[in-house]
Amino acid sequence: MRLTYRDRPVDVAPGETVLDALLRAGVEAPCSCRAGQCQTCLHRATEGVPPPESQNGLTPAQKSLGYFLACICRPSEPLTIAPPDDAGARIEAVVRALEFLSHDVLRLRIEAERFAYRPGQFLELIAEEDLRRHYSLASHPEEDPFLELHIRLHPNGRMSRRLKADLRPGHRVHVAGPRGTCFYEGVDKEQPLALIGAGTGLAPLYGVLRDALRQGHHGPIRLYHGARERKGLYLTEELQALAGMRDNVEYVSATLDSGGDIAALALEREAPRVAETAFFLCGGENLVKRLKRDLFMAGASLKAIRSDAFTPASG
Ligand code: FES
Repeated sequence: MRLTYRDRPVDVAPGETVLDALLRAGVEAPCSCRAGQCQTCLHRATEGVPPPESQNGLTPAQKSLGYFLACICRPSEPLTIAPPDDAGARIEAVVRALEFLSHDVLRLRIEAERFAYRPGQFLELIAEEDLRRHYSLASHPEEDPFLELHIRLHPNGRMSRRLKADLRPGHRVHVAGPRGTCFYEGVDKEQPLALIGAGTGLAPLYGVLRDALRQGHHGPIRLYHGARERKGLYLTEELQALAGMRDNVEYVSATLDSGGDIAALALEREAPRVAETAFFLCGGENLVKRLKRDLFMAGASLKAIRSDAFTPASG
């Protein structure tokens, strides 16, 4: 059986595992237990389907993205594989539109052919070789002919300056990815969903919300969006209109300058059904960590919590 690892062919002998084949070929593949327990040897199939038993213990989102454990993977078909954090090939993209959604959040729409993703994942935007940032996708691949990113502009950020001052429709950038497992997968269609985020954490939640509705989610969906100031909320009219049209969708917002704490509000409101709800948490690291801890302490299963924590970029 033939593997392709970073454009390099690797032969797998009959009965041999992918991990053993990689090590025999001189690839420094990480491993520890060699028994499918520790997940140190996690890899991803970008082409071909890994055998189901090589995905034991992985989340539904990981399985759907082709992740597998190399130490227990004896492939039955040719696979193209990559390390789990491989951003993939960079693809050229064309800027289609830039528009302010609030005083400091920019909506960037770009077109990139052959960029496959799940709503809620994130990509790497490459403006220049040494100017790259991760942004979540608010668009839906089956509904939007573009990739949509919500970008908070920082007065001294290099990418912010570049976006604000130089980037115009028609300009070319590159994207790589997608990455992340915070998307609608492995959820019961009747299950309550709570989507909780702050700032541009709304972008992936908006993608997840649209995907859930498109896939026929019947259970209640509550979208919580918080910001420091009232002027930091955005897409409020669209979200209120969507909630008005759908019986099972509720939109809740809170801002610190009005005394509202979105995390506390969501925890209080979700408490009565915390054990049966699927949670999606997106925003700054502190908010996501705090929510995860508090939801777990309140009785939520960690398996029912998907999250995407943003780390601040330097420069
Ligand atoms: S090395 Fe531990 S799961 Fe593969």
